[in-house]
Amino acid sequence: MLLNAPTSLFLYPNRRIFSNGCLRVQKTWKQSMCISTKPVIDDRILRISDKDALTAVPENIVVTPSTNASVFLGATSSEKSCRHVFKLGVMELRFLSLFRFNIWWMIPRVGNSGSDVPVETQMLLLEAREEQVVSASNASPSYILFLPVLDGDFRSSLQGNSANELELCVESGDPAIVASQFLNAVFVNYGNSPFDLMKESMKILEKHKGTFSIRETKKMPGMLDWFGWCTWDAFYTEVTPQGIKDGLKSLSDGGTPAKFIIIDDGWQETYNDLQKEEELSPVALQFGSRLISIKVNNKFWKKKNESPNEATNDLKDFVIEIRRDFGLKYVYVWHALMGYWGGVHTDAPETKKYNSQLRYPLQSQGNLANMRDFAMDCMEKYGVDTIDPSKISEFYDDLHKYLASQDVDGVKVDVQNILETLGTGLGGRVSLTKQFQQALEKSIAANFQDNSIICCMGQNTDSIYNCKRSAITRASDDYQPRNQTSQTTHVAAVAFNSIFLGEIVVPDWDMFYSRHYAAEFHAVARAVGGCGIYVSDKPGQHDFTVLKRLVLPDGSVLRAKYPGRPSRDCLFNDPVMDGKSLLKIWNLNKFSGVLGIFNCQGAGSWPGLHSNVENSTCSELSGRVSPADIEYFEEISGETWTGDCAIFLFNSGSLVRLPKEGYLDVSLGVLQCDVFTISPIMFGVTPKGTFGWPLLGETLSFLRPHSSNSLGTFLQDHCSRYGKVFKSHLFCSPTIVSCDQELNYFILQNEDRLFQCSYPKPIHGVLGKSSMLVVVGDTHKRLRSVALSLVSTTKSKPDYLNDIEGTAIQILHSWRGKQQVIFCDEARKFTFNVIIKQVLGLTPDEPQTTKILEDFLTFMRGLISFPLYIPGTPYARAVQARTRISSTIKAIFEERKRNRGYSKRKSDFLEILLSVNNLSEDEKVSFVLDSLLGGYETTSLLMALAVQFLGQSPAALQQLKLEHRSIRSFKQRDEYLNWEDYKKMEFTQNVISEALRCGNIVKFVHRKALKDVRFKDYLIPSGWKILPVFSAVHLDPSLHGSTLEFHPWRWEKQSQTSKKFTPFGGGPRFCPGSELAKVETAFFLHHLVLNFRWRTVGVDQHPLAYPYVEFQSGLPLRVDPIL
Ligand code: HEM
Repeated sequence: MLLNAPTSLFLYPNRRIFSNGCLRVQKTWKQSMCISTKPVIDDRILRISDKDALTAVPENIVVTPSTNASVFLGATSSEKSCRHVFKLGVMELRFLSLFRFNIWWMIPRVGNSGSDVPVETQMLLLEAREEQVVSASNASPSYILFLPVLDGDFRSSLQGNSANELELCVESGDPAIVASQFLNAVFVNYGNSPFDLMKESMKILEKHKGTFSIRETKKMPGMLDWFGWCTWDAFYTEVTPQGIKDGLKSLSDGGTPAKFIIIDDGWQETYNDLQKEEELSPVALQFGSRLISIKVNNKFWKKKNESPNEATNDLKDFVIEIRRDFGLKYVYVWHALMGYWGGVHTDAPETKKYNSQLRYPLQSQGNLANMRDFAMDCMEKYGVDTIDPSKISEFYDDLHKYLASQDVDGVKVDVQNILETLGTGLGGRVSLTKQFQQALEKSIAANFQDNSIICCMGQNTDSIYNCKRSAITRASDDYQPRNQTSQTTHVAAVAFNSIFLGEIVVPDWDMFYSRHYAAEFHAVARAVGGCGIYVSDKPGQHDFTVLKRLVLPDGSVLRAKYPGRPSRDCLFNDPVMDGKSLLKIWNLNKFSGVLGIFNCQGAGSWPGLHSNVENSTCSELSGRVSPADIEYFEEISGETWTGDCAIFLFNSGSLVRLPKEGYLDVSLGVLQCDVFTISPIMFGVTPKGTFGWPLLGETLSFLRPHSSNSLGTFLQDHCSRYGKVFKSHLFCSPTIVSCDQELNYFILQNEDRLFQCSYPKPIHGVLGKSSMLVVVGDTHKRLRSVALSLVSTTKSKPDYLNDIEGTAIQILHSWRGKQQVIFCDEARKFTFNVIIKQVLGLTPDEPQTTKILEDFLTFMRGLISFPLYIPGTPYARAVQARTRISSTIKAIFEERKRNRGYSKRKSDFLEILLSVNNLSEDEKVSFVLDSLLGGYETTSLLMALAVQFLGQSPAALQQLKLEHRSIRSFKQRDEYLNWEDYKKMEFTQNVISEALRCGNIVKFVHRKALKDVRFKDYLIPSGWKILPVFSAVHLDPSLHGSTLEFHPWRWEKQSQTSKKFTPFGGGPRFCPGSELAKVETAFFLHHLVLNFRWRTVGVDQHPLAYPYVEFQSGLPLRVDPIL
């Protein structure tokens, strides 16, 4: 904050400071010197990044800084009032307005100056081109965004006047709620991408206002991904159980089963007091009716013994029946925000408790200036029985609890904007809306799973900016199948409204008829809309050709990633009435972009505007379509994009190749549309190979055991057929197998950037979620840095080497008097005793050591077993053993913490580990377990391999003996080895490296590609598994001469750390225990070669790679002490 101060002072000279920190620049010099992008009023001009947004700005208009590039525009008045209209200044830029044409719904309007801005504008986007290139239509514009927001109890909107001035209207909706100063009324921001600008602005507002949440953070209801059916246009309020069953059946029979249903208006028990007195039209009857019970009406009653007198008002059996018969996943029902259109009956026995009061809605002047609405007229005439706000939580809770008890999953909540007309005497429209919204969302969360709510008729900013959890909102006026002029406006309105609404919710495109002259038009719009897809066909009246393009046979739908919105070049054109512009709606799928192109001209007009273009003159329109119309294309194109795209044209079924900035001409007749699927063409191709069997792929062949100093038949066959890098299907995932040293190295070095460690899930089950092999990203970095510092601290302690050597001497001492030993068992005993001493300070004879060893053996067996979690299987036993080891380790932790400083047992490792404060207890336990695991099997195997190879190579054994005799000759009889001695063991190091190369303890490691990666000519697709196979590189004859020969001398000329030798892995996951493993092996060999002669007995010629390496008989040795 402090750093910002001088900058701000420089940018705002001569400012007048208002209370609350807002500022206004006084007249300075004519030509703007302001270089800030931040909006500032300078010389009565609201200037943003050198662009004049408003001129002749009145004195009472102020800006309050928000972020570096955004501000709030506000106004002050000398008088307090519940409604003010302030002039903001003259506006002469191309704009897009989203405004409410009636109380319920928003539509777009484009224009060129303030006078064109409609009343009730809720979003205003200005196009700001550089002065000198105003006429150059191809210059990239920038954008200025005005968002009138909620400011305390007031709600703002924008409008224009005949003097080209933009005006700000602030209103509370309650004469008792008055104010004179509104500092945060309009949010103003600036940017080069209209979509980023909107996204960033909403993020800032979310944080600043705290009253709503953005879409990205919300839980999405599962119904969005399934095809649905709504009863509204099928039956209107005449919906019946039989009708519902008929509709579900015919959709199912046709091959597009509905998996969610909305039982719309018509299921509730309502009453209209006036119906006795007046002859009411059906709609007036509907809008004047009140809810008299929260339960279903008698159409849905369950009749006992077919007698209507013996019926229960139960919906549950019906819901269960339709779920069972039609495989429905989600059942939603409709209700109004106030219960029903006319509210909740004041006197009905079941609803009296909600203390409703008859209130007559009062529309704002803004709404009255636009269009009237019939439903609103009825509600104004008959009044609304308004639930007492203090009872609203109870009402929603009762209603939703009842519905949940009837097996209903969620609700569509309609008529939301009504609240803005009922604020008088109730604290005003903003606070009333907030109260109702909070109660509603709380009840949804308490009574339904899955955030199951669709909001409707809630397009005023009062509702939108109070939408914390609700994730779906209807984004336009109703789909009206019988209104010929609204088919095109519906599609265009949703697309444009989604620019604004789409940041906070998933815009809902409403239902449509699949058998209708505009069905394809609506279907294509839903396909690119990123929305839920549902129809409202009457039973039996479907067009399955249309439906099957949207719905998969299992009833799921392929939903695009974002809310579908108009492409940039459409933003300031009127796609419905200018007679020349096509509408293009862009979206992204997982791997491609998608563009819907619509001719909306000549088939309707916006409410409130009369068409200048005769329908007949608009026949066919032409326009340009380019891959550049798709925003955020880089999300799918990745690093390997050639810059060209493959475009599939749906109508013609043709495929075209285009560079990104290239374009195609399209021509469409009235109400015609097309869809283009645009895929980036990548460099490189996925390597050759085959996927093998479904699911298992080639896993079994890949894992077929073979001698660990060979490739095995699978790798041999595949490499000779496809090369060193090939594709396969392994461990239930498409996989690239790499036997190429360069690619292996590239993978290891790019951990967390392009690739990530990804061991199969069952391994996670045994190792636990905090194991170093399982964790990724920052957690891995944190655990690893502790590991590295522990390794370096412990190895500098004098006991470190002495403990290792002492344990080796102990084991070898126990061989005296024996003729034969099973070497693998002995080596495991050695490595276990070393690591348990190093890590926990325990000696072999302590009970805790025995207990851990026992559980550890069970654990190890499970780790390499088939991952089946059925009680009794080795895998299940391993999971349990891990829990037991964890408890033992935790007990040791506790004991050590209690006896700090007094304990006889010593473990520097443990002392340090316990004092680390950036690891949780579970992470510390996992850490110990990782060390035991890493230090046990692998190191003992290395020792066994060395012993086996030395037994077959007398020359190597002889040279090794000479090296160790020489080292010993400089020491006293029982003197311990030290680091200098270890450094002298050069030939021993060569033996160890050669044993690692020939033995291949770790054959490969598991990784996955985080994005599409291009390497040489290969493409490694994002999400695929990739296995760098170390053994293939170690046994590659072009890299290591006489590959199959155990030849330690090769390491005299060759580096032991190189791309072609990676027994301990590499990059950020290089084995932290490599040195310990080598020291243990070297010290053990030291005493072994000086004190024993040995020869192998029986069949263990070479261990097998399963791929974990194992000597089948445990390497029996006949041993002979050297006296
Ligand atoms: C001959 C003996 C050993 C061999 C061949 C070996 C091999 C490896 C390899 C190849 C990796 C990399 C795994 C990957 O990239 O996914 C690794 C990681 C690891 N090793 Fe070893 N290791 C040995 C001994 C040890 C010892 C003695 C310890 C501990 C005392 C140990 C602890 C670990 C740990 C904790 C990791 C995970 C490192 C990380 O993910 O950052 N290893 N080891």
